[in-house]
Parts: sequence; C-alpha cells; structure tokens
Amino acid sequence: MNQNNRIFIAGCGGMLGEAIYNTFRTNYELYCTDLNVNDNWIDYLDFRESDKYEKMVINYKPKLLFHIGAHTDLEFCEKYPSDAIETNYNSVKFAVNLCKKNNIKLVFISSAGVFDGKKNIYYDDDLPTPISQYAKTKALSEEYIQSNLSKFLILRPGWMMGGGPNKDKKFVNKIFKQIKNNVQELNIVNDKLGTPTYTYDFANNLKLLIENNLTGVFNLVCEGETSRLDVAREMLKILKLSDKIKINEVDSNFFKNEYYAKRPLSERLENHKLNNLNLNIMRNWKICLKEYLNNNYKI
Ligand SMILES: NC(=O)c1ccc[n+]([C@@H]2O[C@H](COP(=O)([O-])OP(=O)(O)OC[C@H]3O[C@@H](n4cnc5c(N)ncnc54)[C@H](OP(=O)(O)O)[C@@H]3O)[C@@H](O)[C@H]2O)c1
Repeated sequence: MNQNNRIFIAGCGGMLGEAIYNTFRTNYELYCTDLNVNDNWIDYLDFRESDKYEKMVINYKPKLLFHIGAHTDLEFCEKYPSDAIETNYNSVKFAVNLCKKNNIKLVFISSAGVFDGKKNIYYDDDLPTPISQYAKTKALSEEYIQSNLSKFLILRPGWMMGGGPNKDKKFVNKIFKQIKNNVQELNIVNDKLGTPTYTYDFANNLKLLIENNLTGVFNLVCEGETSRLDVAREMLKILKLSDKIKINEVDSNFFKNEYYAKRPLSERLENHKLNNLNLNIMRNWKICLKEYLNNNYKI
C-alpha cells in the first residue's frame, strides 16, 4: 500500500463529505468515518472519543487527515455552547496534536461565517471576528491550528450547496422542500450577503491545493458575489417557476424565533490567495447551482 495516497476522513457523512469522497476516491485510498453511517463506504467513528480516533488513524497510517465533521446547525451551537465547543473545537485540538505527533498534514474546514460581516468582502488574511457560538468554535480552531502545526490547510467555504435531498441541510434544500410542498410564496431575507460554494468545486480545488503541496489559510468559494434573495430567485428561474411562485422580501427579524443565532450581514469571501497562485478553479455560483439542481432535484 502507498501511504502517500492515504487519507483518513473524520466526519465524512455530510454534504461536503459526499463530494470529497467522490472526488478523491479514484486517485487516493480513503478511510471515511462519521457517527452518522449513512453510506456503505463510511465506518463508525465519533471523533469526540479521542482514544478510538487515535487508534483508527494510527492503524491506517494516512498522509493526510481531513477533519471535516462538525455541528453545523447554528441554533444548536447557540443553545448548547459546550457541546459545540466539544465537537467543533476540542476534537480539532485533538486532531492537531495527533497530526503533529505522527507527521500527518491536517485539512480543516472553517467557514465564511467567522467574520462579523461589517465589511462587504473578506480576504484570506482577514482575522476572524466571530459573532455566534458556531463561528467562535471555528475561529478558535483556526487559531489553534496555526499556532501548533506547520503542515495544514484551513479552508473557508461559504454557503454550501451539495449532498442532494438526503444530505443537504442548508438553504437550497430548505427552499426546495417548500417548493415540493406546493407553496405559492417564499419568504426570503433581503439582508444577507454571501458566496455560495458547490461541494464538488470545493473538493476539486482542495485536490489541486494538495497536489501543489500548499499550506495555510485559504478562502474557497464559488465565483460571483450574491445574496440569499438572488439565490432563491435563481433557483426559481432554473426550475422554471419564476412566474408560479412569488418571493416576499423580508428582513432577518422575520425569522428571529427560528434562526436566533447571530449571522453576519456579509459573508462574502474572495479567493484572493488562490487567484494570486493561479489555482482558482471555482466556477460561478449560478453555473454550479444549475448543475446541482439538475443533477439532484426533480419537480
Ligand atoms: N454547510 C455549510 O454551509 C458550511 C459552510 C461553511 C463551512 N462548513 C463546514 O464544512 C464542514 C462540513 O460541513 P457539511 O456542510 O458537510 O455539514 P454536515 O452535512 O452537517 O456534515 C457534517 C458531518 O459531521 C458529522 N459529525 C458531527 N459530529 C460528529 C462527531 N462527533 N463524530 C463524527 N462525525 C460527526 C455529522 O453527523 P450528524 O449529521 O449526525 O450530526 C455530519 O455527518 C463542517 O466543518 C462545517 O462546519 C459548512
């Protein structure tokens, strides 16, 4: 077995894990784990159980450790901050020390949501200014990794699109479920700006970063800046429903009981470092949204 091609993935059962698995499996040997064993290529591991985590990684002898699982529900993190810290930060600290001891490169997924949103666009070198418990766990993890490891990739995706109806927990699937329920009107916030990130583009660009042996913090989002409102409008356009479903513009207060975690006004990122390195292969979000919907969602 070629150890140089081995990747251990912790928390691979989610929307991003699916794309990473499908993108890497032809050129790499993968060991995919999650506490949610929802596919036959996933083995059970709760990465909070550090002894088991260590044993499995050491047995596999990977060159890379992708620690990608997390509590991604912002309201859950707000309500249970110590659970959020345990899952999203303490496990990362453990992974860092495991990588350090065993000379493994760590890949960690942070978030565009680490910023307070006061600027319109954030660059790779901007320092996190978290305003929610979830963002705090990501900011702490970024800091710990950079202070304790030399071989790492910290990647910041934006609003993730991927996984299809079974795995997508985010905006596109939430809107699609309402459409499937035959709603006549959609209430969409008009005060949230961001950059969508298609999981397959993210996985392809991650592969390129690895092949180029890069280390450091990278923004990794689709091209084109947008808003929740634009994404919803584009979805209706692609699904040919623009004249059948009305969009009501509301502000975030409208959802204050359901989505009570603070969210930045702007989570817009630019892939500044990738552009400078000529390694930005992320496509425009509209092309990706169309591909994602066409491949996964039928009306
Ligand atoms: N989705 C986004 O919009 C977005 C944006 C920016 C960054 N990110 C980051 O990208 C990464 C991947 O997120 P995703 O969108 O793929 O989220 P996801 O679909 O929720 O996948 C995360 C996976 O991690 C698992 N997990 C949670 N706790 C675990 C534990 N203790 N041990 C093992 N597995 C555990 C989850 O299981 P359960 O389903 O059972 O909880 C889930 O299968 C995360 O680090 C996330 O914070 C996501």
